[in-house]
Amino acid sequence: MDSPTFTFVLYTLFLLCLNTTLSTSSSSLPMSLKTQATILVSLKQDFEPNTSLKTWNISNYMSLCSWYGIQCDTNNTSIVSLDISNLNISGTFSSSITKLSNLKFLNISNNLFNGNLSWKFSYFKDLEVFDAYNNEFNCSLPIEVTKLPKLKYLNLGGNFFNGEIPSSYGNMLSLNYLSLAGNDLRGFIPYELGNLTNLTHLLLGYYNVFDGEIPSHFGNLVNLVHLDLANCGLKGSIPNELGKLYKLDTLFLQTNQLSGSIPSQLGNLSSLKSLDMSNNELSGNIPNEFSNLHELTLLNLFINKLYGEIPSFVSELPNLEVLKLWHNNFTGSIPSKLGQSGKLSELDLSTNKLTGLVPKSLCIGKKLKILILLNNFLFGSLPNELGECYTLQRVRLGQNFLTGSIPKGFLYLPQLSLLELQNNYLSGFLPPQEISNTNSSSKLGEMNLSNNRLSGSLPSSIGNFPNLQIMLLHGNRFSGEIPRDIGKLKNILRLDMSFNNFSGKIPIEIGECSLVTYLDLSRNQLSGPIPIQLSQIHILNYLNVSWNNLNQTLPKELGAIKGLTSADFSNNDFSGSIPEIGQFSMFNSTSFIGNPKLCGYDLNPCNRSSSTVSESQDQNNGHAKPGVLVKYKLLFALALLFCSLVFATLAIIKSRKGIRQDSNSWKLTAFQKIEYGSEDILGCIKESNIIGRGGAGVVYGGTMPNDEKIAVKKLLGINKGCSYDNGLSAEIKTLGRIRHRYIVKLLAFCSNRDTNLLVYEYMTNGSLGEVLHGKRGGYLEWNVRVKIAIEAAKGLCYLHHDCCPMIVHRDVKSNNILLDSEFEAHVADFGLAKFLLQENNGGTSECMSSIVGSYGYIAPEYAYTLKVDEKSDVYSFGVVLLELLTGRRPVGDFGEEGMDIVQWTKLQTELNKEKVVKILDKRLHHNIPLDEAMQLFFVAMLCVQEQSVERPTMREVVEMLVQAKQPNIFQM
Ligand SMILES: *[C@@H]1O[C@H](CO)[C@@H](O)[C@H](O)[C@H]1NC(C)=O
Ligand SMILES: *[C@@H]1O[C@H](CO)[C@@H](O)[C@H](O)[C@H]1NC(C)=O
Ligand SMILES: *[C@@H]1O[C@H](CO)[C@@H](O)[C@H](O)[C@H]1NC(C)=O
Repeated sequence: MDSPTFTFVLYTLFLLCLNTTLSTSSSSLPMSLKTQATILVSLKQDFEPNTSLKTWNISNYMSLCSWYGIQCDTNNTSIVSLDISNLNISGTFSSSITKLSNLKFLNISNNLFNGNLSWKFSYFKDLEVFDAYNNEFNCSLPIEVTKLPKLKYLNLGGNFFNGEIPSSYGNMLSLNYLSLAGNDLRGFIPYELGNLTNLTHLLLGYYNVFDGEIPSHFGNLVNLVHLDLANCGLKGSIPNELGKLYKLDTLFLQTNQLSGSIPSQLGNLSSLKSLDMSNNELSGNIPNEFSNLHELTLLNLFINKLYGEIPSFVSELPNLEVLKLWHNNFTGSIPSKLGQSGKLSELDLSTNKLTGLVPKSLCIGKKLKILILLNNFLFGSLPNELGECYTLQRVRLGQNFLTGSIPKGFLYLPQLSLLELQNNYLSGFLPPQEISNTNSSSKLGEMNLSNNRLSGSLPSSIGNFPNLQIMLLHGNRFSGEIPRDIGKLKNILRLDMSFNNFSGKIPIEIGECSLVTYLDLSRNQLSGPIPIQLSQIHILNYLNVSWNNLNQTLPKELGAIKGLTSADFSNNDFSGSIPEIGQFSMFNSTSFIGNPKLCGYDLNPCNRSSSTVSESQDQNNGHAKPGVLVKYKLLFALALLFCSLVFATLAIIKSRKGIRQDSNSWKLTAFQKIEYGSEDILGCIKESNIIGRGGAGVVYGGTMPNDEKIAVKKLLGINKGCSYDNGLSAEIKTLGRIRHRYIVKLLAFCSNRDTNLLVYEYMTNGSLGEVLHGKRGGYLEWNVRVKIAIEAAKGLCYLHHDCCPMIVHRDVKSNNILLDSEFEAHVADFGLAKFLLQENNGGTSECMSSIVGSYGYIAPEYAYTLKVDEKSDVYSFGVVLLELLTGRRPVGDFGEEGMDIVQWTKLQTELNKEKVVKILDKRLHHNIPLDEAMQLFFVAMLCVQEQSVERPTMREVVEMLVQAKQPNIFQM
């Protein structure tokens, strides 16, 4: 017997003796201090060592009453209070605690205690408070607590209690406070809880998934002050009886499936301060009776099916601070006096059918921080008062019919970080900044004024935005020269001034905007040369100057901008020859057309320039907006696909006929023994076999003569000079050597002069992306998700740390994590993987430098450095973890346009692990261990750190994920 076990047995024996002593000596006799001390010390044996409890030492028993967390009665004879909350203690909690039968107060909250709570509670005849909140108890709810005659406060929230709420909980008539929130409870809420008429607080929501409706018996709980039934699967309508709870100050029913209309009886709750019924299926109007809710500070009804007008009494509610009614079908106008109480701080009425004017009084109290009215039918001009609303932080008024000019001062409000006014009919000049204001430093990070009718020249104060990252001015009538102060926008990443009437030269100062990756000056009347200084922007990625009157030669220095993958110089007056250097060789002729004096490279020779002009004029859609570029590329890709299909067919025919043509014949390189040939592989390449399309190519599925299923990826977009014999095949051979359980096996490589086919093992269950976000979505249980996260992490870890040279994936995303028939994860698609060469920039890197990953997964440093390393993969993997947690796509699933999963998560949780509940995938109904979710969230947030050095390595990620998972549920 090893010594800890031995000690344990000793203690058990000791406790047994103690038991008998206790039960023989009547409980009316006070227990000696030493006996009580012994009980505590024996409890401590089951805890992880914790320094706070070092006073718990038997030799110290005389001072028992001053031990950590202990309080005794006035005579210092018995312990009446034990508080060991917030100590992060883990371990089990022995039932011998109940021997401290004089306890009135017991707080073990915010620890990691696990096991069950099958204590002999009935010994605790005096217990009034029992707080076990936020531990890891994992069993059904204890029934014996119902035998505590004096219990007033019972908090079992934030654990893993499962099963149903026992109806006997309705017997605890002395209770004032009951929380069972945040567990794994199921079944119906027992109506007997309606007998607990002394309750002031009742919390049952979050994680629990109940059947049925809110019991109408809750109408008997007339002492309730706080009722929280949020996020626990409740259906049916809201019972009218809740209107009897006239002491309520908080009613939380959000995020359920409640339907029907809002009971007018809730208007009787005249003490109500916070009312949240958002994210349900409620219909009908806001009841007129709500005009009685004079105490209301928060009213959230967003994401429902409510309609009718927003009643004008809303503006009379004297204390209203937060009003969020977005995503309903409200019509009519915004109450004209909204805000008059002077308390309004957050207003979001977006995505309704509201019309009329934006009220003048919104910011009367100078408290308004958030103003979101986007996507309605609002008209009229913006009230001038908004220009003096110095508290504003986020303003989103896009997609309305607003007219008039932008209020003076509006752009320069000191706290403003987001300003969206796009897609309205705003006119007039952009107001300059008042001299008196120029000292206050602007926080503005994003300004979108696009698609309005703004005119005049830009004021030089447009440079007074040191934090501006995105400025979108396209589709207006701005004229005059682009101010030189534009060069003061040191943080600008994206600058779009297209579709205006800007004239004069492009200011050379624009070269000082050294972080710009996206610059669109197209469709203006700019003249003069492209300033050489543009080439100082080393990270420029997209440059469009088409449809201007720019002239002189194209600066060859631009060719040195490594990341410049898209540039459009078309329809100007450039002359001379196109530099045949660097990135210039990447652009095709559409980038240059419509410049009659320009010649060279891929373009028509100078003597045929006239035909070039007419060609360009035929192309009415020649303005190369990004979307159009994409279309071009798509067409091009399709054309390529078509050609290669024809070609592949021809090739098959040819090879069948036994015609052998050296350059066009197919060469098959197998990386392991395969029982089929290139003909069988080519047979898969047909439209009806397409099982996926990705950045790197089209994927076909097929069954080989031996019944083996394979997936064939046809690589697209491999640049000239990177075909079969130019480095690619060497890379692919290395990939073919990779053998790892969690990496999709590359079986063979089949190519000829123009086409490269990669043959992979077939993954029955498709990609993680399809499973999470596709039509079949939602059936991935929590345990499977964690398992997939660990497996994918192991695959990536292998690439980063066990391959030589190491392999950076460069396109980690849920669509590149494939699932086999057992839902085991396999990292796929090395079409974009590039070897990190020791000396940077070896021969092969050029071939794929334009491919950087997928939107929503790209690490922020790419924007600044254009370098992608293994830490960029870690970032992308963090995004995948967030997808697993939230079930949401990396972009496009967030009420707010332009928001991505990383921003959204940060906003929702404020980086607080405890708040992970707010972001979890709602489809995950069963058994989500909160600690695992928190750990996964924690790892994800580490992975998506802004600074790549602060991200963990994949090896560390694997370790942290494995730790998150309790052993033996999941075998490694
Ligand atoms: C304290 O001692 C006094 C006198 O011995 C006794 O009457 C009283 O009940 C005791 N109080 C408690 C809380 O034990
Ligand atoms: C309920 O509260 C009242 C008033 O505080 C109290 O008198 C009564 O004893 C309580 N009921 C129970 C069962 O504890
Ligand atoms: C509890 O409530 C039920 C139904 O509301 C009622 O029939 C029962 O008598 C109540 N029990 C007690 C002890 O009040």
